[in-house]
Amino acid sequence: MTTATARAHPNIAFIKYWGNASDALRLPVNPSISMNLDGLYAETTVTWDEALPADTLRLNGKDEAGPALERVQRHLHAVRQHLRLTQYARVVSHNNFPTGTGIASSAAAFAALTVAAAGASGQAVPERALSTLARLGSGSAARSVPAGFVRWFTGDSHETSYAESFAAPDHWALVDVIAIVSDQHKATGSQEGHPTAPTSDLQAARVAGAAARFELCQQAILARDFDTFAEVVERDSNLMHAVMMTSRPPLFYWLPATLALMAAVRRWRAEGLRVCYTLDAGPNVHCICIREDADQVRERLWQHSGILEVRRATVGGGAALVNAG
Ligand code: PMV
Repeated sequence: MTTATARAHPNIAFIKYWGNASDALRLPVNPSISMNLDGLYAETTVTWDEALPADTLRLNGKDEAGPALERVQRHLHAVRQHLRLTQYARVVSHNNFPTGTGIASSAAAFAALTVAAAGASGQAVPERALSTLARLGSGSAARSVPAGFVRWFTGDSHETSYAESFAAPDHWALVDVIAIVSDQHKATGSQEGHPTAPTSDLQAARVAGAAARFELCQQAILARDFDTFAEVVERDSNLMHAVMMTSRPPLFYWLPATLALMAAVRRWRAEGLRVCYTLDAGPNVHCICIREDADQVRERLWQHSGILEVRRATVGGGAALVNAG
């Protein structure tokens, strides 16, 4: 019996991943960029145990059966094949943030699960291989394995589709001030959403411009050029949501408070605050700002109606083992 515990942060995408070239391998149709969110994490312990008749999952203090367990079992099956293991695993995991509300809980969950599973095997698995493995559980989990500012090239096979860091967490003091406007579990998760992307007439146009936006965003981060960064991050988020809203069936993630906040953020930027918005597959608004402006953004958010909670995250490190035994 061998065990290990790992922690991984969720990440917020600046250039979004939406739609797969291969649903089975979760190969994305476009490259994406994100930063890890410090302070928020999933912590997962994996124990490989010869005596277990099947994989088990305890999530936030509750023994899971059904879809959550099955998704973890599918992922562990893939990890077993890649690491040539034969035992089943006991998985115990908890998040310190709400699941299913636009903070990408699956990214942190599958990054932590992968790193703990590999750690418990005793094998030294390189970061790149950990990132490809994490991708099989949830595409964006590939980006929660490396530290700081991360890019994920599409690749064209399991081995070539991985994420890597292109700037360390201390490269640029960005803060994600997250306005939580709903704590309901979202109706359609990204797993079911990706396959609908090609049904939108706008997806081809979004994908055609993705490489250019990726380059612009990466250069803006490397140069710490907030104006260029803000413009491309908001445009990319709007493009993804335009695809979602025009898919069949359509996916509307925005609530009235979401739209009001997007307009407010643009107004604040015009007034001189260095802040921009981006949204994942949920209604919560991620306000990405320069550290000196984060308190102002937080104060102004609280003056809006419809805000349930405001969270704040700086740039986080990569997924890592907490201990191994
Ligand atoms: O990793 P998934 O399948 O949960 O997809 C994530 C999709 C978005 O969060 C909407 C965008 C992204 O790049 O993180």
